[in-house]
Amino acid sequence: MSGWHHRHILDLASFSRDDFASILELAQRFRSLPVTGVRKLPALQGRLVATLFFEPSTRTRSSFELAAKRLSADVMSFSPSSSSLSKGESVLDTARTYVAMGADVLVVRHRSTSVPQQLAADLDRLGERTVVLNGGDGLHSHPSQGLLDLLTLARHFDAQKPTPQALAGKKIVIVGDILHSRVARSNLWALTGCGADVVLCGPRSLLPEDFAAFVDAPPPGLSCDPVAQRGRVTVERRLEQALPGADAVMTLRLQKERMTQQLLTSLERYHRDYGLSHARLQLCGRQVPVLHPGPVNRGVEMTSRLLDDPSICLVEEQVRNGVPVRMALLYLMAAAESAAESSLVSISS
Ligand code: CP
Repeated sequence: MSGWHHRHILDLASFSRDDFASILELAQRFRSLPVTGVRKLPALQGRLVATLFFEPSTRTRSSFELAAKRLSADVMSFSPSSSSLSKGESVLDTARTYVAMGADVLVVRHRSTSVPQQLAADLDRLGERTVVLNGGDGLHSHPSQGLLDLLTLARHFDAQKPTPQALAGKKIVIVGDILHSRVARSNLWALTGCGADVVLCGPRSLLPEDFAAFVDAPPPGLSCDPVAQRGRVTVERRLEQALPGADAVMTLRLQKERMTQQLLTSLERYHRDYGLSHARLQLCGRQVPVLHPGPVNRGVEMTSRLLDDPSICLVEEQVRNGVPVRMALLYLMAAAESAAESSLVSISS
């Protein structure tokens, strides 16, 4: 892990294949720790992690808090509805309040794109040592979700050795509301960064044609791509074209709260054209896993029967993998700050 150089974790566009490998390796090690008995590791003892979620969350927030506790950090959470935001306090001043209380890590979610990035820049400008971890910003990025999806897929393809190589050359189909999905954007960087080919599938209103070129230009703010050879991205309009030969299928929540205009005729029509079911998955030609970041609109993105079939649907496995992935992220950020490589040795034995 000595090559880890990210101070803040804001997106996956700046991750190299070695970065993905480091996260997968460490998360796999955390994942294999016993889940009963003594569950805590001392790695973040004396550290303070604050979860500043300005937008609702069930999975991400709980998972980060559990991950921080499993590493023995102190955890503070913030609830917008009962906070001084209602008195007009700004996001930056809210964050600075937690920094003043000694927060080492701020996990930040906001409905507006770039709020975590802006906070990270402000903290750097102010000379604060606190680091920012993006818990999801607007339509832009959800790095920890992209990484837990990566671990889930890598483990599906090679449970013993879930490395980026496990994904190389695989065909991953992402279906649905790509336009409003920060999960899709993070997955595009992560999956192509590990050499997988991604087929995006959805109606024009939810999947603009230019997504086919999403990873072609160097990531924003970088002069060159940190990944030498990415997988390809293609766009298909019909599942009948997208699914044959797929190795895995990810479907995304229709984000009605982010749709500013009528983009769909009806949910029934959407389900008929893009909803996943056991029957429809036969188009893949063999049994393949289905992922969904949650929360799921039952009967819209997939049938209830498929959602409740753990032999195909990996939604609960994704949630389980979220904890070790977030432990890995918190651990690496703390280790980068204090070069605490010695405690890494103690968890590997
Ligand atoms: N996948 C995801 O981000 O879920 P939450 O909104 O519940 O955190």
